[in-house]
Amino acid sequence: MKKLKLADGIHMLIMNVDDILFEGMWEIANGVSLNSYIVQGEKTAIIDGVIGWDGVPETLYKNLEEMGVDPQEIDYLIVNHMEPDHSGWIENFRRIKDDFTIICTDKAARMVACFYGEDKIRVVKEGDTLDLGKGKVLSFHPVPNVHWPDTMYTYERETKTLFSCDMFGAFGRIGDHCFDDELTPEEVDFYEFEGIRYYSNVMTTFTPSMRKAIEKAKELEISIIAPGHGPVYRKNPQKIIDDYARFARYAEGAGKNEVAILWGSMYGMTKKAVDYVEGILQREGVKYSKLEMPLESDSELVATVFRSAGIIIGAPTYEYKLFPPVATALNELGRKRITGKLAFRFGSYGWSGGAEKELQEIIERNNMKWDFLESVEFAGAPGEEDFNLIEARVMELIGKMRERVVE
Ligand code: FEO
Repeated sequence: MKKLKLADGIHMLIMNVDDILFEGMWEIANGVSLNSYIVQGEKTAIIDGVIGWDGVPETLYKNLEEMGVDPQEIDYLIVNHMEPDHSGWIENFRRIKDDFTIICTDKAARMVACFYGEDKIRVVKEGDTLDLGKGKVLSFHPVPNVHWPDTMYTYERETKTLFSCDMFGAFGRIGDHCFDDELTPEEVDFYEFEGIRYYSNVMTTFTPSMRKAIEKAKELEISIIAPGHGPVYRKNPQKIIDDYARFARYAEGAGKNEVAILWGSMYGMTKKAVDYVEGILQREGVKYSKLEMPLESDSELVATVFRSAGIIIGAPTYEYKLFPPVATALNELGRKRITGKLAFRFGSYGWSGGAEKELQEIIERNNMKWDFLESVEFAGAPGEEDFNLIEARVMELIGKMRERVVE
């Protein structure tokens, strides 16, 4: 664990986690940090705790002691969000101390009770405050459905610090640099990339609620944004607010100036067209990612499509339907509510088509509202006429996607 001081009476503890699937399903190739915050007045509060794995709560106690905070003196556990990556240690803490109060929203209170059997809970609502003494006053601001219904912001008035939990967070372990003013340009790019992966994997289903949470943050005068994952923003907190506003647009059809190619091929016929498309994109100087289905990492699939302004699907017909690994990928994108993307599909068939019909069914069933250019289907291997049609569509996509680029 890493210990940092944010301000007089406000400290941060960082634990990096690797080698897990986040939420039991998302690959985190570059790890993730779990950030906890200690606010000390006459009373002491801890905001956003840690996961409950063996040894982790004990490590937290040891680090608190090294910071001069006796765990026995913690009066309040502020549960901004009940997901166990932040609250899992509560059961362990109960074993070493029995007189503390949990502060959370009504929705979190129900879960704190059923997950950990806790009942000493103060339920807070919009604008409620907690005076810790010595000038440290916390206020509470629910931001439901970021990404659970229980979530809230905690705001410290003296230092104008927003403890935002998952909101404004990012994947990526924290190294030597944690504050935005310390990050090198490479690290800024790294956390933007990891922020996109985090938003797209964990948050994107709830984009309308994310927009409301962004607006709520704008109502507060903020000097520091201290999230539950990723770097702390004290030089320019507006940057992460703007980034999140941009990510919300990626969820609804905008993207970076790049193309995602989702493809699969049974015996190499569709692959011939994929290779041809790749040549066009290279010739035109368009950045692209090529993802062959089935792809082991749903995290990479979701993040790549989320951030791309143009999507190209290369998939044949299989048993009168869309090539199943590509259909599975599209269904996952639909579940994550990635909507409004500009897209083009091509693919081979043997004795009959059918892929196109299922493609449209998936898009409609998931209410994805993707904007498709006319598809190109070919019997067996693509011929010259097919290549010409595919080239025309790819050039059309390149032209149209420029209107959707937001960097
Ligand atoms: Fe970081 Fe939704 O928990």
